Amino acid sequence: MSKKPESFGPIAPHYDVLMRSVPYDMWLSYYQLLLAQQEVYPEKLLDVCCGTGTLCEKIAALGYSVAGIDLSAAMIERARAKAKELELDIRYEAVDAAEFDLGERFEAAYSFFDSFNYITDLGHLQKALHRIAHHLKPGGSLVFDLNTSYAFEEKMFDQEDRRKKSPIQYKWKGDYNPTSRIIHVTMDFWIDGENFQEVHVQRAHSQEEIFEMLKVAGFHQIACYDSYTLEPPRKRSDRIHFTAIRE
Ligand SMILES: C[S@@+](CC[C@H](N)C(=O)[O-])C[C@H]1O[C@@H](n2cnc3c(N)ncnc32)[C@H](O)[C@@H]1O
Repeated sequence: MSKKPESFGPIAPHYDVLMRSVPYDMWLSYYQLLLAQQEVYPEKLLDVCCGTGTLCEKIAALGYSVAGIDLSAAMIERARAKAKELELDIRYEAVDAAEFDLGERFEAAYSFFDSFNYITDLGHLQKALHRIAHHLKPGGSLVFDLNTSYAFEEKMFDQEDRRKKSPIQYKWKGDYNPTSRIIHVTMDFWIDGENFQEVHVQRAHSQEEIFEMLKVAGFHQIACYDSYTLEPPRKRSDRIHFTAIRE
């Protein structure tokens, strides 16, 4: 029987090269704007689904205390190696967001780059929000972004870069089911003559589902924005940022 291609496994050592044009600095500025909007000024932060830790590194370099968790051991291995190279003191743990217990509390938690879309089961996502609430001090901030159903309908994952000069060549193809709101994205990569495939599965959680789950997990002052603005989401928003305060 062939093994199902995993996500964030083989790509992990190459993830930062793949993300080389992702505007993490702009995301950090926007995050700081959302925190100011919430009137929360944290010193100790938690990155949920931190990947290879690029945002953690930027936050740690500003002098804040930051920890990161991610389900993928391969992504965490890469994050730890980079922190060591950069001589940054960042705690990283390879754990499921729905099951972790770090034994410490934070003033803010964030999760960027559609990571919560990867938690496709609503019960699982509810558990993750409960665990995050448990790790936040009262009055603590939660900020995260999600891809919308509009993004999946518009085939935002259908992308390719087969230019010979590219350090990573790839071809991605999404298959979206509007009834289940689930997309399966088959991702083929070619790196140094080697080819491998990952299959990424995301769900387009609705705003109503997210607001309800946040309330159940003990959050209030819940808001959402058309990403990278302070405007409400539009029908054609492809990404939405959510903010909430732990009661
Ligand atoms: C698109 S990546 C984003 C990584 C990072 N936030 C960034 O901005 O580069 C999504 C990440 O979510 C992680 N992830 C997915 N499901 C998770 C879960 N249940 N618990 C923790 N991490 C999870 C994946 O392993 C992956 O590293």
